[in-house]
Amino acid sequence: MTTQEEQTRAGLQFPTGFAFGAATSAYQIEGAVDEDGRGVSIWDTFTKTPGRVLNGDNADVAIDHYHRYREDVRIMAELGLSAYRFSVSWPRIQPDGSGRINQKGLDFYKRLTDELRGHGIDPWLTLYHWDLPQALEDRGGWPNRDTAYCFADYAATVHEALKDHVHTFSTVNEPWCTAFLGYASGEHAPGRREPENAIRGAHHLNLAHGLSVQAMGARRVGGCVNLYAITPATASEADQDAARRIDGLQNRFFLDALMTGRYPQDVLDDLGMDLSFIRDGDMATIKAPIDLLLVNYYSRFTVSGAPGGRASAAAAPTDTGSPWVGSEHVSFVNGGRPVTAMGWEIDRSGLLEVLSRVARDYPGIPMVVSENGAAFDDVLEHGRVHDAERVDYLDAHLRACRDAIDAGVPLEGYFAWSLMDNFEWAWGYGKRFGLVHVDFETQRRVLKDSALWYSEIIRQNRRHE
Ligand code: NOJ
Repeated sequence: MTTQEEQTRAGLQFPTGFAFGAATSAYQIEGAVDEDGRGVSIWDTFTKTPGRVLNGDNADVAIDHYHRYREDVRIMAELGLSAYRFSVSWPRIQPDGSGRINQKGLDFYKRLTDELRGHGIDPWLTLYHWDLPQALEDRGGWPNRDTAYCFADYAATVHEALKDHVHTFSTVNEPWCTAFLGYASGEHAPGRREPENAIRGAHHLNLAHGLSVQAMGARRVGGCVNLYAITPATASEADQDAARRIDGLQNRFFLDALMTGRYPQDVLDDLGMDLSFIRDGDMATIKAPIDLLLVNYYSRFTVSGAPGGRASAAAAPTDTGSPWVGSEHVSFVNGGRPVTAMGWEIDRSGLLEVLSRVARDYPGIPMVVSENGAAFDDVLEHGRVHDAERVDYLDAHLRACRDAIDAGVPLEGYFAWSLMDNFEWAWGYGKRFGLVHVDFETQRRVLKDSALWYSEIIRQNRRHE
């Protein structure tokens, strides 16, 4: 064994059966927006609205995965992935958002999951990764309670068609982003800036989660949250209160609802709004038992109650307002850590912190890290991408996963974001998160050094299984 291998194994040996995966989402990779009966999504509309997305980019073609999925699955197999997390495009299945089912849409995901299983890769299916059918937005979008019921019907349809093909279902990816970036700051589709509707939307996304879990019946299903480690800038009361408020909106509003069937009282008090849209029985529905929790983790926020810092931690090129409804006066300050190309601070200890916190506060729920990764300004030179910073990022965070397992956290897998460079929402093609480099003109895929590194980690773990 080489020293390199010894070192790798020392920190990165995982229990037998640990899932090594990578993740993507439909709108970010598929393209083919007009094919086989797909309807229009809010992201189609948003990207065609001038000034919304950097450089006016859209995902009409994206990285053409709809046509190239076989090649992409071959790449996953070459990397040795045991699991692949992807999302289903709702407007491919229900072009009008409700009612009529488009069989050709379901057929695509059957072909994809067959291909995955044929290569020994477990399909992890996300039902909603932000591409709401435009027809439902026209009827009010997530602030309209009906959208949650439509989602449950859609979930039941997808589940019925694909339940024998899928290893794990998950409901709504990062509900915080959909609600607050979509309906409060407006930097994501549908681009509305209606703070109270963001809260209404957040509740209906939680409700959609619970209703769909119920609608799917016996199956392996999880909920997905994007958790951040949050630190007060100083020990002052104002900064600690700012940390409480951001943690409340970002983390506890979703975690508490899904895991305990309650919203945190301090968050409801801070909001100070009419909450009559939370109806009797909703919270029991939201708490519908799940088999696991999918945790997306990227960064730590340092927050201050004093004015002067940035108003948002996730400033996008089209940032128009604050997504922090009820906490607009909190500012995000520089925590002094190195940053990725997104400007997000790198902190592996934050991952250990959020995983341990979930294990402590909601004991017994198995978890996976369903997204973790970093954008850097990659350079393709002589057919190689030497993305040493991404390797360091992934290595550090995988070690945090290992530490979490050692500390008793029931962590069952890790999914790198993302398998391939793709359409990064408001940043268009301007930010690359992939293990695999994609030339957006030619669609050529090239494994970056991080992909080779990841496949080596997987190979070493397999060898010892
Ligand atoms: C989380 C989202 O789920 C994904 O779609 C996005 O590309 C990554 N974060 C990076 O911003």
